Amino acid sequence: MTDLIVIGAGPGGYEAAAEAARLGKSVLLLEKEALGGTCLNCGCIPTKALLRSAHALVDCRSAERHGVQGAAQAKLDFAAAQSRKDQLVAMLRKGVAGMLKRAGVEIVSATAQIAAPGIVFAEGMPYEAQNILIATGARPALPPIQGLAGNPVLLDSTAALALPQIPTSLAIIGAGVIGLEFAALFAACGVRVDVIEALPRIAPAADAELARRLLSELRRQGITFHLGCNISRVSEGTISFTDDAGAPQSLTAEKLLCATGRAPCVEELGLELCGVDFDRHGIRCDSCGRTNVPGIWACGDVTGGIQLAHEATRQGVAAVHAMFCDEAPTPAVVPSVLYTHPELAQVGETEEQLQALHTEYRKALVPMGISGRFLIEHPAETGLVKVLAAPDGLLLGIHILGGPAGELIPTATALLQQGLTIRQALQMVFPHPTIAEALKEALRALQ
Ligand code: NAI
Repeated sequence: MTDLIVIGAGPGGYEAAAEAARLGKSVLLLEKEALGGTCLNCGCIPTKALLRSAHALVDCRSAERHGVQGAAQAKLDFAAAQSRKDQLVAMLRKGVAGMLKRAGVEIVSATAQIAAPGIVFAEGMPYEAQNILIATGARPALPPIQGLAGNPVLLDSTAALALPQIPTSLAIIGAGVIGLEFAALFAACGVRVDVIEALPRIAPAADAELARRLLSELRRQGITFHLGCNISRVSEGTISFTDDAGAPQSLTAEKLLCATGRAPCVEELGLELCGVDFDRHGIRCDSCGRTNVPGIWACGDVTGGIQLAHEATRQGVAAVHAMFCDEAPTPAVVPSVLYTHPELAQVGETEEQLQALHTEYRKALVPMGISGRFLIEHPAETGLVKVLAAPDGLLLGIHILGGPAGELIPTATALLQQGLTIRQALQMVFPHPTIAEALKEALRALQ
């Protein structure tokens, strides 16, 4: 009997499998598609690869500012960008396979179904295990809008990443993380992009003040936003909706992308058969990933919590530590990054969350232009660092727009994870000249 069967080889499943194997446990990892899950094959990594190609084009257009002549006429070879993306994904997939092999995880390529606690069938073969960890992720979900299902010009995020050529125009439903990243990508490639969002704002999980600044930036880049809209129906590339004033509107695009959320992959698993508690939001489990059925655990997007690769990994490893070391997870602050241009990264509470909790706070909002390196590296770009702290100086939230926001947020995360006050955080030495000095200045503004 195996110590652990993991179902699903995304960042939740494969990291949990490797961790258990490193603890000396026998581990079988069952995956029906490619290793790496959504993140590596049709999510985080391929979008970032295409966004980097699009940014290279944008950099060329502004190269004259740096004294570089002749780059302004540069064009993007989308097929070449796709091929670079595919090569990167293939290389990283090999990396995951190598890491799992070194850790001693056995991998079987098969669709898994749980027959009972401790018994999993994969392509007709029974496998027995003390523990089963479900890490099957989530997939794009369609809202119940007439004309979406079966629409020949409708893309989901996976199909949008595999387009052989760029469309002339794209209408995106949903201004959440996926909608905004694809809007930024295709607008930078010269595509006419319209985004239709039900809420009166973009990026609902982000701090509203920085989300508004991001909205202005994205509008400046030519993306058209229709906020507070209610879509009534879709017919091929035409979307009919009422705008925020209640007036009927319509727009037509060559392709549509629906980015209104993702649904947990709970089918095919036999959850009803073995009595695992789940609903359309996902599998219910405790903070260690324990489901209601002893020996069956879950982690990542399938649990319906925060749908982020690094959170799936944290949950998967926490489940393994709970099952084999009887360890409770350390409370963690989970950062997130929106990879638009400019990037928006955050950790801890937003101002709206603090207001909703009636928590007293102080805030500083500092332009990144305070850093010489930012002016050198990102001329004429928006950059802001926002720090929220309790009256006694305890750090509550850090939000960064622009520059290398995603690369600065781990520093901010470390400050919050350690439960530091502004005074303690300022004991850290920030190297000069770096863009991180804008974070130091934002902390200093609250001292
Ligand atoms: P989301 O939940 O982030 O955003 C969906 C948006 O669609 C919301 O703004 C919502 O108000 C809007 N919406 C819903 N129904 C609508 C309708 N009928 N008409 C117009 N607008 C409508 O979902 P999204 O962007 O699909 O992402 C799914 C998950 O994947 C998220 O949890 C996200 O965190 C994760 N993800 C994270 C990434 C990152 O961290 N960089 C990248 C890609 C995905």
